[in-house]
Amino acid sequence: MELPASLQVALDATPAAAVVLDAVHRVALINKRAEKLLALPRPAAIGRGLNDAAGLAWLAPLLEDGGAFAGKAASLPLSGHPVAVLVDAAPLPLDGSPDGILLVIRETQHPCEPGRRIEQLESLAGIGEIAAGAIHEIRNPLTSISGFIQLMRARALRQADQVTTDYCTLIAEEIGHINSVLSDFLALAKSRNTKSVAVDIGQLIRDVQSLIYGEAILSKITVTARLPGEPLLIHGNGDKIKEALINLARNAFQAMPDGGALTITASADGPVARIELADNGQGIADNAITEIFKPFYTTKESGTGLGLAICRRIVEDHGGEITVSSEVGEGTVFTLTFPRMRED
Ligand SMILES: Nc1ncnc2c1ncn2[C@@H]1O[C@H](COP(=O)(O)OP(=O)(O)O)[C@@H](O)[C@H]1O
Ligand SMILES: [Mg+2]
Repeated sequence: MELPASLQVALDATPAAAVVLDAVHRVALINKRAEKLLALPRPAAIGRGLNDAAGLAWLAPLLEDGGAFAGKAASLPLSGHPVAVLVDAAPLPLDGSPDGILLVIRETQHPCEPGRRIEQLESLAGIGEIAAGAIHEIRNPLTSISGFIQLMRARALRQADQVTTDYCTLIAEEIGHINSVLSDFLALAKSRNTKSVAVDIGQLIRDVQSLIYGEAILSKITVTARLPGEPLLIHGNGDKIKEALINLARNAFQAMPDGGALTITASADGPVARIELADNGQGIADNAITEIFKPFYTTKESGTGLGLAICRRIVEDHGGEITVSSEVGEGTVFTLTFPRMRED
C-alpha cells in the first residue's frame, strides 16, 4: 500500500501511538510513539501481519468485528507489567488502494499504588520549587517588555498612531494577566513553612474590612462584620489567613457586579472557630461547585482560577476546612473552620 510520506511526518508529530494497517492487516506505518510504546522498531514492523510481529498480536482480537470503533479497552502485554490502553480504529481511505485502518492507541492511567503516590507528592514539592524559580526568571524579562511597551505606547500616542496605541494597550493588558497568573501560581507553589502565633480572628476580620474598604465603596457593596465580644484565638499565620479572606471577599465583590452586601461572621463553636462570608451575588451552579477549588478553574475573562486553590491551601495548612454552599441568583456562603487555641 502506497502511503504519502507526509502521513508518517504528521503521525510522528502526534502525541498518541498510531499504527496504519493495510487492507489485509499488515503494518503499513508505525509512528514514533507506537515504536516506543509497543517496543517495536519500525523495520521489524513494516509489512508484518499482526500475528507475525511480536508486539502486535494483542490487536488481532480487537479487529475481529471490523476496523471501525472507538475506545476499545485492551491490555498491552509489556515486559513485567501490563499497560492499560484504549484503542480507536478508523478506515483510512487512500488513492488507488483499498482502505487501510488507522489505529490510535492511548495509554490510560493506572490507579496508583500508595507507594507511587508518595513519590508523586515528593516530586510535586520539588516542582513547586522549580516553578517558583522559573516564575522569577519569567518575571524579569516581562518587566522590561512592559517598560518598552509603555514607551512604545507613549510614542504612538504622540504621533497620533491610534492602531499602534491600541495594540500596545492590548499587549500591556495581556502582560498584566500573565503577571497575575504568575503571582497566584507563586503563592501556590511557595514553601508552606509559616510562622505560627496566637491570632485573634476578630482582629483579622477588622483588618480585612479596612483593607477592602476602598474596593467595596467602588463596587457599591456594604461589608458588615459580626464579631464575638471576646477574642477568638487560633494558632497560625495572620497574614496568610488575611490573604485567604481578601481573596474570598474579592470573589464575592466580583459576583455582585451591580452592588450588594457581604457579611462576614465569626463565631466560636466548641473546639472550632468559624468564619462565614455570605454574599448575595450571582451564586454558583451545582455542576460548577465541585470545580471551583481546582487550580485554573475560572469563569472570568481575566481570572486566574487560582484564588480558591490558594485559600484552600492556606486553610488546610492551619488544620482547618473550607466549604461552600450556594444558590444561583441568591448568593454564596463560604465557611472556614479552624481549630481553636486552647486557653491554658
Ligand atoms: N462568591 C462567589 N460567587 C460566585 N461565584 C464564585 C464565588 N467565588 C468563586 N466563584 C467561582 O469560582 C471560580 C474560581 O474562583 P477563583 O479560584 O478565585 O478564581 P478567579 O477568581 O480567578 O476566577 C470563579 O471564576 C467563580 O466562577
Ligand atoms: Mg478569585
